[in-house]
Amino acid sequence: MNSRNGVFMLLILLFFQTCSVSALTNGLDASALKALKDEWTKSPDNWEGSDPCGTNWVGITCSDNRVVSISLANLNLEGKLAGDISALTELQILDLSFNTGLTGPLPANIGELKKLKNLILVGCGFSGRIPDSVGDLEELVNLSLNLNQFSGTIPASIGKLSKLYWFDIADNQIEGPLPVSDGTKPGLDMLLETKHFHFGKNKLSGNITEKLFTANMTLIHVLFDGNQFTGKIPDSLSLVTTLQVLRLDRNKLSGDIPSSFNNLTHLNELYLANNRFTGSLPNLTSLTSLYTLDVSNNTLEGSDVPSWISSLSSLATLRMEGIQLTGSIPISFFSPLQLQTVILKNNLIDGNLDFGANISNQLEFVDLQHNSITDYRPPSVNKRIQVILANNPVCNEVGNGQSYCSAIQPNTTFSTMPSNCSPCDQGREPTASCRCAYPVIGTLTFRSPSFSGFFNTTNFLILQKSLDDYFKIRSYPVDSSAIRNIRENENDHQLLMDLLVFPLATESFNQTGMAFVSFAFSNQTYKPPKIFGPYIFQAAPYRQFSGGDSKSSNTGIIIGAAVGAVVLLLLLILAGVYALRQKKRAERATDQNNPFGKWDTSKSSIDAPQLMGAKAYNFEELKRCTDNFSETNVVGGGGYGKVYRGILPTGQLIAIKRAQQGSLQGGLEFKTEIELLSRVHHKNVVRLLGFCFDRGEQMLVYEYIPNGSLKDSLSGKSGIRLDWTRRLKIALGSGKGLAYLHELADPPIIHRDIKSNNILLDENLTAKVADFGLSKLVGDPEKTHVTTQVKGTMGYLDPEYYMTNQLTEKSDVYGFGVVMLELLTGRSPIERGKYVVREVKTKMNKSRNLYDLQELLDTTIIASSGNLKGFEKYVDLALRCVEEEGVNRPSMGEVVKEIENIMELAGLNPNVDSATSSRTYEDASKGSGDPYGNESFEYSGNFPASKLEPQ
Ligand SMILES: *[C@@H]1O[C@H](CO)[C@@H](O)[C@H](O)[C@H]1NC(C)=O
Ligand SMILES: *[C@@H]1O[C@H](CO)[C@@H](O)[C@H](O)[C@H]1NC(C)=O
Ligand SMILES: *[C@@H]1O[C@H](CO)[C@@H](O)[C@H](O)[C@H]1NC(C)=O
Ligand SMILES: *[C@@H]1O[C@H](CO)[C@@H](O)[C@H](O)[C@H]1NC(C)=O
Ligand SMILES: *[C@@H]1O[C@H](CO)[C@@H](O)[C@H](O)[C@H]1NC(C)=O
Repeated sequence: MNSRNGVFMLLILLFFQTCSVSALTNGLDASALKALKDEWTKSPDNWEGSDPCGTNWVGITCSDNRVVSISLANLNLEGKLAGDISALTELQILDLSFNTGLTGPLPANIGELKKLKNLILVGCGFSGRIPDSVGDLEELVNLSLNLNQFSGTIPASIGKLSKLYWFDIADNQIEGPLPVSDGTKPGLDMLLETKHFHFGKNKLSGNITEKLFTANMTLIHVLFDGNQFTGKIPDSLSLVTTLQVLRLDRNKLSGDIPSSFNNLTHLNELYLANNRFTGSLPNLTSLTSLYTLDVSNNTLEGSDVPSWISSLSSLATLRMEGIQLTGSIPISFFSPLQLQTVILKNNLIDGNLDFGANISNQLEFVDLQHNSITDYRPPSVNKRIQVILANNPVCNEVGNGQSYCSAIQPNTTFSTMPSNCSPCDQGREPTASCRCAYPVIGTLTFRSPSFSGFFNTTNFLILQKSLDDYFKIRSYPVDSSAIRNIRENENDHQLLMDLLVFPLATESFNQTGMAFVSFAFSNQTYKPPKIFGPYIFQAAPYRQFSGGDSKSSNTGIIIGAAVGAVVLLLLLILAGVYALRQKKRAERATDQNNPFGKWDTSKSSIDAPQLMGAKAYNFEELKRCTDNFSETNVVGGGGYGKVYRGILPTGQLIAIKRAQQGSLQGGLEFKTEIELLSRVHHKNVVRLLGFCFDRGEQMLVYEYIPNGSLKDSLSGKSGIRLDWTRRLKIALGSGKGLAYLHELADPPIIHRDIKSNNILLDENLTAKVADFGLSKLVGDPEKTHVTTQVKGTMGYLDPEYYMTNQLTEKSDVYGFGVVMLELLTGRSPIERGKYVVREVKTKMNKSRNLYDLQELLDTTIIASSGNLKGFEKYVDLALRCVEEEGVNRPSMGEVVKEIENIMELAGLNPNVDSATSSRTYEDASKGSGDPYGNESFEYSGNFPASKLEPQ
């Protein structure tokens, strides 16, 4: 049987060889690629022969024998980019990132690549002017020229790129003013689709004119830091209300800090440090989404320490260094719940430093060096805070003996590298499982993270986990990743760390694998968790390529056959190992599934629960993985207690619901509950992983859903943009989850509290229904044992159930209908006394386009979705769900079918999900939500995925 398989495999290989020979590359494309190669002194390994498409040249993707993508990041290429590239008229993606040996100018005729969508040259050695002809690349969506030696000015012609989404020229030598249109020539003010202006660390100068910004722009990141801009901040900047990150620090800007910044209510990061601003600091009290405020080192008028700071409820980092602040620190100054770092050094602050009782749990670092503080009382609650009072009278008096009188900066040696492996030699590094291999190493730079301080290492664990997940879900040839050497750049406050990505199963990457992995970063397809904000990756040169790419067709067959045999052997070995592991695992699982030992029988005479796949955790385990239930890991809460985020030793993220005293239920009830919940298994329902019934605690352990609730996304809190397509997918996913609970779960479960807070979104924006059947555990303490009492949330509550107390599945259908309407309006069902069900019913006019409901719609849908196909049917369905009488409402099964029909109308395939079940590039990018407010680059969907998939 083995030998028969071998022959079969050989036949398959032969078949592929024959096929590939018949695919002859378009002649002009083939000679253009050869010209590129001739101009390079170091070129990709296997660029030989005359048929790039047919013989799988590294980094080349073709469609109909035309070259559509060149993706050659981090392959040690050297030389210049030949003008012959202009012959590749079907090219859509050009990525040459991280090849520092690529130098010289961009050829002027690059503008002839009329189909080009992604021009990505991050971290190379290119120089000279950016050619004006870049403005002719009318399909361009991503222009990333950062980290090069480009000089000259920004071509005004870039204003013609009406589809440009991502515009990054940071870290170059570019000079002169920002071009604006004037009726005859184009300018950057015309870029209405662009979300990212990343211009930091150049030599740009001149005034930023009023003309540059308009209310029609949709920018979310404006990074102008580290340039030489002069003049005042244009008032028009406050019109761009989509802004989330604004960095103007380290320029020569002057004039007032405009109080109209208060209109930028989505702003998360505001950096104004190291300029020449004058006047007084305006009250920025409307910026309740602000995480970072830095106004240091400006020539502001002296003023008292502002008391309005305590109303910035999201604030994590505050830097007000050297701006002549006077007076004493107000009592609730340190109260914002997320506050971590406060830098107030080099001011004239006097009086007594008293943290008071109302102090952020997360506060880590308070630097008050060089002030006039005369008295200090250490905080009584949060003892972790590091306070620096060096060079204040209080330290002169007590002498420098107190720890708070020395000026030590916080730092970390945190690393996710395994610590107990034997050392690797020859420059190799240990993988997570202690195998020695050559990782690709690079620097991840986060340009404006929304947290500060290093003590809460959970953020870094989550980052590392998100990287591993990213590669795993998409089947990249990656074993694991690790981060280490985390540091902050003191000058510009960027967060830097080293990233190591290890090859899968081999000692080193081959070139195809490397180009594939690097593209994830150069194209920003990988999105870190949203708290990390915008990033850049710069890979270090990689010298250990394995020669895995077949050289010619003859050796190809021989290698193929040999590989076939080896693969067979490996498969057999793997099968053996697998069988053995399964046996071990089964043995272990029996232990875990029989948690008599852990079921706390001293407190209860009840038999241990019969669980399907859920695990009993003990208190110590959960305590450890939440850092002793630290407040920094609280991710939610309610009447029943708190929800903590935790990380298991295996790296798995979990969410732990911990019932507080007073909402504990009886042991038998708790047992029934977890038995019920452990039987629920569906992709659109949050999975119960286990429980803890130990030391008088009752906790439920769930899978952690990283993107938060649908409510967070609709309200803009999570920064995820939901266009029409995504909203339909979310409606379908949550509908399927609910239909499963009603129709397939055994016994059926009525959710009782369907609302947007209870629909969570995972990393691919797959909707998951949460908090079902938790009527007792989740309810308010006083409702604990009352089963007949009406339970639910105003706005979603079924009027029939409310009046009759008769609970049926149709009550969930009502709540679901309200969620469907909420998906349209983006607002809470009851807002300013208006109820969305009534609003829609009274406003709608069936004879008009979109039923005349435009006014009620969430602006994000209109802005990002164009044609809302299936809209009217969707409204019809939602209104059937919220019929007054339950009998007139459809069942959830019917609702799911109807949403599937609507999706087909909208040209979507309801059966294709996001990245988890499908492995193509296309779905991966479509499915992934941008954690910090970017839309994902859906155009990379044009990547013929199979070619880039690791074999
Ligand atoms: C901005 O949009 C408004 C209407 O939406 C339009 O009248 C105006 O011309 C636009 N301005 C620019 C600069 O495109
Ligand atoms: C730049 O702005 C400053 C102050 O805002 C103004 O005095 C100056 O005239 C402006 N320069 C130009 C070239 O517009
Ligand atoms: C800011 O918003 C207020 C009210 O919403 C408006 O009156 C004012 O003109 C806005 N300012 C700017 C500069 O956009
Ligand atoms: C800022 O608020 C304070 C009170 O908190 C008030 O006295 C002051 O006038 C306000 N300043 C501005 C510029 O609005
Ligand atoms: C303020 O200026 C000092 C001295 O130049 C510098 O060391 C410090 O980093 C600056 N502060 C900030 C927040 O940029």
